[in-house]
Amino acid sequence: MSDRYAVIGNPVAHSKSPAIHAEFARATGQDIDYGRIEAPLDGFAEAIARFRAAGGKGCNVTLPFKHEAFRIAGQLSERARLARAVNTLRFADSFGDNTDGIGLVRDLVDNMGVALAGKSLLVLGAGGAAQGVVGALLAAGCARLVIANRTLPKAHALAARFPGVAARAYDALAGERFDVVVNATSAGLAGESPSLPARILDRESVAYDMVYGRDTPFLAQARAVGARAVDGLGMLVEQAAESFFVWRGVRPATRPVLAKLRGS
Ligand code: ATR
Repeated sequence: MSDRYAVIGNPVAHSKSPAIHAEFARATGQDIDYGRIEAPLDGFAEAIARFRAAGGKGCNVTLPFKHEAFRIAGQLSERARLARAVNTLRFADSFGDNTDGIGLVRDLVDNMGVALAGKSLLVLGAGGAAQGVVGALLAAGCARLVIANRTLPKAHALAARFPGVAARAYDALAGERFDVVVNATSAGLAGESPSLPARILDRESVAYDMVYGRDTPFLAQARAVGARAVDGLGMLVEQAAESFFVWRGVRPATRPVLAKLRGS
């Protein structure tokens, strides 16, 4: 029988993870079966226990359960500890990892050819999505990282966890310019955008929205000033590849899968 994995979240019906992992398995010759499990909002631990008892080997964890997964993991990777969130569980050794940050960095650096070393970076948002990526962006060697959030105390609280990271309100960004701006807010899902001062982006900048599958107002705003604008589909594929590696010890090629998902 194939080794079983799944993505667990709520909602999870539209997750692309099963299709991505099916492609990885086919390309690497790994015999896995990857499904999706929608857990009740108050039933995450039970859903995990049930899947494990039924022979599951591990799972990806998505919204809103990444913090709960962090709490139930028996041992944690350093990057999960930094993120205080887990998106990958391996049941055999009760290991919790977080592959979101490295997924973003690989998409920027390897897929888009954006060097992060020495660059000035702005992260918009201070919720779970932002928490998951700040450590990896710092590890990629950026010269400066600023976190901006609508609710300023949350930006301060997140920045305080990382040495050298500054926090700002959006309007306090006026007069600044960044090489890379990562939108880690959920504003795009509601067709909204953080209200950013003009000129924080220019033609040399990269605007990255972690939301995927839709053109957000943030990306439209970035394109209007000539910046390079990209959605988070590549991050989704890269975090999946890293999870696949955690489970199987095999690193799948990501570009063919990303190209297929983009329909090119
Ligand atoms: P996630 O896990 O997706 O990060 P979250 O923890 O609820 O979800 O955080 C959502 C983030 O998007 C927050 O940074 C939130 O800003 P606040 O902390 O000020 O609430 C941000 N956000 C959501 N909608 C927004 C909007 N319309 N404009 C600006 N920021 C928004």
